[in-house]
Amino acid sequence: MNYKDKLNLDKLPAHVAIIMDGNGRWAKQKGFLRASGHKEGTKAVRDTVEGCAEIGVKNLTLYAFSTENWNRPKLEVDTLMKLLVSSLKKEIKTLQDNNIRLNCIGNISNLPKKAKKELLDVIEKTSSNTRMTLTLALSYGSREEITSCFKQIAEKVSKRELSIEAIDESVINKHLYTQNLPDVDLLIRTSGEQRISNFLLWQIAYAELYFTKILWPDYRREDLFEAIYNYQNRERRFGKTSEQLS
Ligand code: IPE
Ligand code: IPE
Ligand code: MG
Repeated sequence: MNYKDKLNLDKLPAHVAIIMDGNGRWAKQKGFLRASGHKEGTKAVRDTVEGCAEIGVKNLTLYAFSTENWNRPKLEVDTLMKLLVSSLKKEIKTLQDNNIRLNCIGNISNLPKKAKKELLDVIEKTSSNTRMTLTLALSYGSREEITSCFKQIAEKVSKRELSIEAIDESVINKHLYTQNLPDVDLLIRTSGEQRISNFLLWQIAYAELYFTKILWPDYRREDLFEAIYNYQNRERRFGKTSEQLS
């Protein structure tokens, strides 16, 4: 089925977030090392990013490395960090050609120096691009983000820069990594797992969730178009009744 032609381009999700999962299982099925699954996964990243830009999605956030992923074997962590550096070097052209701005969320002070430098370099070089914002979640954990938000707000209250009465949802939003991004409309997870794994807990409050069995290295833009088509055929009620919406 050709999902692209069926999409309503006036009703695209403002923010799509993807938990890119299944690289290891993809490799195992083929009898390869886990690293080759991660490498193959970069092709899925490129195609999905280009697919989003092609149809006009303004914000795409990809979960690339969680705070919990630091607990993987050192060899795998090192491989992922090296892959990050080589992908950034290689894909800056894709970003520039497609007028895409790179952004990142997460505790990047934990990244190896080289990875952090390359990341900040690409973020800087693409900072004036306007077609789409691509956010990489790197060393990202939602609980860590929320904890840091609490700390920043508590500090402002203790210094009397902020009153307790003034704390509302918008104040909380302003102290999250995602302060400049709209709420997530559509959250996709590949590989058949149906969990959130500490990703954007606050920001997905009213997101539509979409799970697919496709392993991340096999994911392509047509699969994303299918997910968006599915999203567009749901009724988002935000607590109201169906009758109130029509
Ligand atoms: C997702 O694939 C990539 C990262 C979490 C970095 P996995 O490496 O989790 O693959 P599976 O879940 O073991 O198949
Ligand atoms: C979530 O995948 C993190 C990323 C996709 C980067 P994991 O594979 O680490 O998640 P769990 O541990 O299976 O929940
Ligand atoms: Mg996994």
